[in-house]
Amino acid sequence: MSQPVSAVRLCQVAKTYDNGVATQVLFDINLEIVPGEFVAIVGASGSGKTTLLNLAGLLDTPSSGDIFLGGRNVSQLAEDERAYIRRDYLGFIFQFHYLLPEFNVLENALLPCRLRSQATAPETRERMISLLREVGLGDRLSYRPQQLSGGQQQRVAIVRALANDPVLVLADEPTGNLDRKSGRAVFELMRFLNQTTRKAFLMVTHDETFAAEADRIIHLEDGRIRPAQ
Ligand SMILES: Nc1ncnc2c1ncn2[C@@H]1O[C@H](COP(=O)(O)OP(=O)(O)OP(=O)(O)O)[C@@H](O)[C@H]1O
Ligand SMILES: [Mg+2]
Repeated sequence: MSQPVSAVRLCQVAKTYDNGVATQVLFDINLEIVPGEFVAIVGASGSGKTTLLNLAGLLDTPSSGDIFLGGRNVSQLAEDERAYIRRDYLGFIFQFHYLLPEFNVLENALLPCRLRSQATAPETRERMISLLREVGLGDRLSYRPQQLSGGQQQRVAIVRALANDPVLVLADEPTGNLDRKSGRAVFELMRFLNQTTRKAFLMVTHDETFAAEADRIIHLEDGRIRPAQ
């Protein structure tokens, strides 16, 4: 593939919610993230961080402006195409891990592969097992989520986000529900996977220490990106 297209690019994106009263929550968002980049989004509660992440993740649609993933304009696609792009191009990590209690660690990590029609390829299974080993869960593959610590559960969720080999991983306060030590381990794991796999990461965080360790920090204030000082 010819290099470099952006992993994601937002051009003049705005978002207004209308539940009876129209409320604009994002204004004039211009943002480009290149492959392999690790970008942190910070800002006060209600400043629009999750809304921005949901737009980049095709979980919501902009009111105006364009969103490009891998150079392709995805702003106007039908929902079935958006679902394919979410599955093949994006990985998601949330504050709560959403692991399924009836599946073990390996099965949970492989869940996104089930969204594809074909059976999970043996090489995918091997890749996921080796990732789980790398994150220190090699001896927990057959454990259920409820038999793991909070930090271990979040590590499974991070590996799961890489199941379909995405270009861009979107993480919304992935350490928000963890104590300091587990949060640090989870953050360092994401950074490690970013550096070894060159996947782009866009991470919302309230933790200034983690944000300072990103390649770049985006400050959101009342729905706008604060210009670089
Ligand atoms: N579905 C919705 N309908 C109406 N308003 C919404 C909706 N989702 C979000 N908002 C509003 O948009 C604004 C931004 O919300 P958002 O969830 O993006 O904030 P945030 O920066 O992620 O905050 P936090 O740090 O608390 O998670 C808020 O004022 C919120 O009330
Ligand atoms: Mg939020």
